[in-house]
Amino acid sequence: MAHLVHVVVGARPNQMKAAPLLRALRQNPKFEAELIDTGQHYDHEMAGIFMQQFGMGRPDHALEVGSGSHGAQTAKILERYEALLLERRPAATIVIGDINSTVACALAASKLGIPVVHLEAGLRSRDRGMPEELNRIVTDHLADLLWTPSPDGDENLLASGIEASKIVRVGNIMIDTLVAMKPEVEQAAFCDQLNRHHSQHAVITLHRPSNVDVEATLSKLLDELLSVANTMDLVWPLHPRTKQRIVALGRMDELTNHPSVHLLAPLGYIDFMNAIMHARCVITDSGGIQEETTWLGVPCITLRPNTERPITITEGTNVLATPETLDEELNRVLLNEERHATSIEYWDGNTAERCVASLEAFLEE
Ligand code: UD1
Repeated sequence: MAHLVHVVVGARPNQMKAAPLLRALRQNPKFEAELIDTGQHYDHEMAGIFMQQFGMGRPDHALEVGSGSHGAQTAKILERYEALLLERRPAATIVIGDINSTVACALAASKLGIPVVHLEAGLRSRDRGMPEELNRIVTDHLADLLWTPSPDGDENLLASGIEASKIVRVGNIMIDTLVAMKPEVEQAAFCDQLNRHHSQHAVITLHRPSNVDVEATLSKLLDELLSVANTMDLVWPLHPRTKQRIVALGRMDELTNHPSVHLLAPLGYIDFMNAIMHARCVITDSGGIQEETTWLGVPCITLRPNTERPITITEGTNVLATPETLDEELNRVLLNEERHATSIEYWDGNTAERCVASLEAFLEE
């Protein structure tokens, strides 16, 4: 009989990681894979559009938790997922990344003795001020099987006392999606249709509470970005959190009226990656974009004091910056015309197959 397996998604960055895994599991008759959507993100452009573009189909179970404080949201997911597990007990629950849904579903499953598999295990920023770091630490300690993207992940897990036998380096699953979608991304007309004022553009994404929730920091960042807009167009899909904060700051009009600032609603995968692929550089505080730009060879300036993805700095195109050093880093990027995509072991488009092989061995051992 096929093993029933749950794949949990909750927020935007989960979707590009779940899609290839779900596809590979569904192609294998040994598994019956169900997609669980906690509803942590609920707007079409933050969730549904990705499921559509990646052909994931509709979720088998939608928990519809919505937004809330960390405690309230995590508790709601825990309660609702536990109820589902009591009804329909899977052979394993696969949780992804570092969001509140990841830790809540891992806890619900492990308390019921259901094996937990963590995809994208072992990442550490060593910054406990980030909610995601706490989610990573707890999830990794609850997990029975830990799938890591790079050697630093294995090292972090071993250093925190997790047994080597539980750790399997599968690679970077987000690159599976990028490899599969690249032809469609290249053909997209998104960049050509932008009414650009400069020949080059930078893609901007900002949503971390540390950058957008503190008024003085956000204000300084806006000043810096407006000065970048003197030399390059800014293509800036606004995260709902950031939109709320800019409106509260009273600076929305200044941005919308600027001729080379393109403030957009959140974009789907194809248009967004089309903008990244043709960008002179990317200025971001996202996690996943650091990896996608490394794989594509596009310079990336990450507005954070640390990263849980250090391989993107040591082997890729990423550099960390503060609002104060952004200008300097940007000049460095602009002076260096060379671009080179790096090849990191197992960031090759075949991670989902390695995950399925590992899961099969785990469940049948
Ligand atoms: C969450 C994740 C973060 C991830 C990010 C990607 C946690 C702790 N945080 O942060 O790791 O990088 O998603 O986007 O899990 N909102 C909408 N529509 C939506 C979802 C949210 O309008 O579909 C609004 C809500 O008003 C909410 C705010 O955006 O209060 C922020 O959303 P929230 O879920 O709190 O966190 P993110 O910043 O999205």
